[in-house]
Amino acid sequence: MPNTILVGAQWGDEGKGKIIDFLTDEAQIVVRSQGGNNAGHTIVIGGDKYVLHLIPSGILRKSKICVIGNGVVLDPVSLVGEIEGLRKRGVKVEKNLLISDAAHLVMPYHCALDGQRESLKGSKKIGTTKRGIGPAYADKASRVGLRTGDLLRPDLFKKKLSRRIKENNVILKSLGAKPLNAKKVLEEQLVAAAVLRPFIANTAVFLHRALASKKSMLFEGAQGTFLDIDHGTYPFVTSSNTTAGGACTGSGVPPHRIDSVLGVMKAYTTRVGEGPFVTEEDSLGDMLHGMGREFGATTGRARRCGWFDAVSTRYAALLNGIDEIAITNLDGLDNLEVIQVCVAYKLDGKTIEFPPTDSDDLARCKPVYLEMPGWMKSTEKARKFTDLPPNARAYVKKIAELTETKLTIVSIGPARAQTIRL
Ligand code: GDP
Ligand code: IMO
Ligand code: MG
Repeated sequence: MPNTILVGAQWGDEGKGKIIDFLTDEAQIVVRSQGGNNAGHTIVIGGDKYVLHLIPSGILRKSKICVIGNGVVLDPVSLVGEIEGLRKRGVKVEKNLLISDAAHLVMPYHCALDGQRESLKGSKKIGTTKRGIGPAYADKASRVGLRTGDLLRPDLFKKKLSRRIKENNVILKSLGAKPLNAKKVLEEQLVAAAVLRPFIANTAVFLHRALASKKSMLFEGAQGTFLDIDHGTYPFVTSSNTTAGGACTGSGVPPHRIDSVLGVMKAYTTRVGEGPFVTEEDSLGDMLHGMGREFGATTGRARRCGWFDAVSTRYAALLNGIDEIAITNLDGLDNLEVIQVCVAYKLDGKTIEFPPTDSDDLARCKPVYLEMPGWMKSTEKARKFTDLPPNARAYVKKIAELTETKLTIVSIGPARAQTIRL
């Protein structure tokens, strides 16, 4: 299998975990390179559901190596909980997991700051996952962050962390939040550090050795293109580069060693949190929520839903260099008589082909829809492309045509078997 970066082409939750799990059969190494436990990647195997937040989805397949790269921000206590949760369910998490010594740590003051800043913003809030992601990346950029490598030297880590707690308690108090109990934080972080120490390594060196021995790699993107700190709907974004380039900086694997970029797109659009959403359609959300679908894997929040937006996804294809696409959740549209696809935006009376950079401008855009006939038939038992109803085939082909990409995977259910390879 070629070295492949898998990215979400919308606002996250496209079904990346499911597609990674499907493709891992053919790859040897799965790498997370950005984001943190704001991610929630769902995998269903034989009726058992797993939600992974920090650990790459390859962990559920035997003899695959999973790498948490330097670009990830990692909450030690949360990661230990995830490791223990998997082990309790019989999943091996030993030498098959490597954690970069250069990954930055998410500390309890990051979570407290995230929560407090959100509540102070009131109606202007971002709607973050409150996992401390923004403040942790801010500390990294400010060059005051703690890194996973610090966990290898407990005495020094204790000193550095004590200083950081002291400073952040001043900030927390100035924002009207409760300061942290330094002793308690130190204690719990040192316990987590002891569990994580055996996994910590220079993962860039590991990946280069693996490249030299022709091992194939899958880069598991977290979040989605329009949550990217540079290319997303700023400020309603996350704090990392979720687009394909982030996989290289976040792992130490150079761009020329990447062979392919696979974009994952839902057959409709969802978004959690605030921010502009041109094709938002409450009636579609009501239908999907009524089916028990589209509730966040990390926070449980109901996801906002809307029609497929070919304007933004075509732009996502350009930003990421998407060669191939996987369309997921096609079965979510099974009961609709007509389906809308957004093919252009209107802004101030003018038709535009690309989303405007400014979020306020984007919020003023009106969708231009192409109406397509639905198929009114269950697709969940389809196993070959030709098993899909003709209108469903026409719909996914249209998406590939509009986004100027090659369709290679269609997903019609959460299980591994519910995946059609073209
Ligand atoms: P991720 O963050 O991109 O990995 O996606 P999430 O796991 O947060 O959300 C995707 C949801 O859709 C999960 O509940 C998956 O089990 C589910 N899912 C993925 N693909 C399909 C599909 O084709 N059909 C259905 N019904 N569910 C799917
Ligand atoms: P996966 O990997 C969907 C959203 C939050 C919020 C914004 C900023 O499962 O697709 P943050 O906590 O990152 O500072 O929140 O980003 N967000 C996600 N939305 N899927 C995700 O991850 C997300 N991770 C963050 O809802 O709008
Ligand atoms: Mg998710």
